[in-house]
Amino acid sequence: MTTEPILAVSGLTKTFGALRAVDGVSFTVAEGEILGIAGPNGSGKSTLFNAITRIPFSASAGTVLLSGRPIHGEPPHRIAASGLARTFQRESVFPSLSAVDNVLTAVEQTGRGGSFERDVVLAEQALDLVGFPATLHNWEGRKLPVFLRKLVMIAGALALDPRVLLMDEPASSLTPEEIERMRALIAKLRGLGVTILLIEHVLPLLTAVSDRLLVMDQGRVIALGAPSDVIRDAAVVEAYLGEAA
Ligand SMILES: Nc1ncnc2c1ncn2[C@@H]1O[C@H](COP(=O)(O)OP(=O)(O)O)[C@@H](O)[C@H]1O
Ligand SMILES: [Mg+2]
Repeated sequence: MTTEPILAVSGLTKTFGALRAVDGVSFTVAEGEILGIAGPNGSGKSTLFNAITRIPFSASAGTVLLSGRPIHGEPPHRIAASGLARTFQRESVFPSLSAVDNVLTAVEQTGRGGSFERDVVLAEQALDLVGFPATLHNWEGRKLPVFLRKLVMIAGALALDPRVLLMDEPASSLTPEEIERMRALIAKLRGLGVTILLIEHVLPLLTAVSDRLLVMDQGRVIALGAPSDVIRDAAVVEAYLGEAA
């Protein structure tokens, strides 16, 4: 008996006029897996996450199944409610809201708490889970350094209680020490049973945490497999050298 993948993407395509930003992408993700996603700038990685979550836009073609159930026709809030959450490449927090109020906006979408007091507790628990300092819960988003803004954004996604979390370049603009803390957080989330799709330019981080690595170039999947095999793949090396040149 084969276990059903928690996420199955098939033939996913997103066009912008003549540009095929995501071009017939298919892959599956097993429950509990971390799938790393790499590729040169502009290869379609963020567009892939956008098309899967329908935030902020839908795919032009293709299907997305979550535990076997089609979600590609559902509105974005229903997709999130059914267990698929995402974070963004640019850490998006409400600048005038405190850290805890930022996460509260996510908790309130789920109706999980049932009362305001209980919602606040859930928001605080999500901040604790990602290691956000308790002393800074009431700091405004705009005053937080980039690493802490990223933690607030991740806490907001976790407050949706996702089974699958899509993370778009969580290590960008971080110091080596912060990257190590992000790696530890990703490992912790996996330990809690969250399935993770991780887009990352920091290749040592990506290869350290990923069970499999998917590489995109010009909207297509050019390699998918064990990280150690994929980073030696000729097409992958060429795609990256092409970017450098
Ligand atoms: N909203 C949009 N409108 C038009 N073109 C877009 C839009 N979003 C992305 N693109 C284009 O799609 C391609 C893939 O972009 P993106 O998915 O952001 O790449 P990556 O995340 O891999 O760097 C790029 O050529 C980009 O310019
Ligand atoms: Mg991107």
